[in-house]
Amino acid sequence: MRRIVPLFLALATLAAHPTGASEPGSHQHGKPDDSRKPLVFNSEEAAHVRQEMRLFLVSVKKIVTAAADNDMKMVAEAASEAGLAAAHQVPAGLRAKLPLEFKQLGHATHVGFDDLARDAASLGDANLAMKQLGQVMQNCVSCHASFRIAATKAKAR
Ligand code: HEC
Repeated sequence: MRRIVPLFLALATLAAHPTGASEPGSHQHGKPDDSRKPLVFNSEEAAHVRQEMRLFLVSVKKIVTAAADNDMKMVAEAASEAGLAAAHQVPAGLRAKLPLEFKQLGHATHVGFDDLARDAASLGDANLAMKQLGQVMQNCVSCHASFRIAATKAKAR
């Protein structure tokens, strides 16, 4: 699990030097970005993914708030809520539609939250937790730059 950290650092370094970053759309303000790969989901699948996403956001919010209060027990708890064990079962039909890159980024995100939770509990270092959160969130940025949910077909009129 620890072996992914250098990869995150490499990604974070890339992000800090935009000339080397490969994030479509990130430097094209004012222009709609159509280069993200469309994920063709039915409405249930889209709702499932979006719900997981909002849970990610809730965890991030709780982690930041708790770290600011130096409540590292709460940081660990909030990060665990976004970890692998807490990840909801992906319905088989949805899983089959997910590109490998998407699954890898999703998995790395859950694992990153688990690492953050473990270190927050054992080391109690709020600054480290923020550093790790920044690394985990590079996955959010990368995936959002690469994929979009294709509009579900409107009902026939
Ligand atoms: C593996 C890919 C992937 C990762 C990793 C990922 N997201 Fe997302 N996220 C998506 C996609 C795809 C959408 C839908 C975008 C669209 O509407 O086209 C989305 C949408 C969202 C939304 C909007 C949800 C809604 O109700 O419309 C939020 C909030 C969000 N993500 C937060 C996060 C946060 C925070 C992280 C990291 C902790 C994260 N995501 C990591 C792929 C990802």
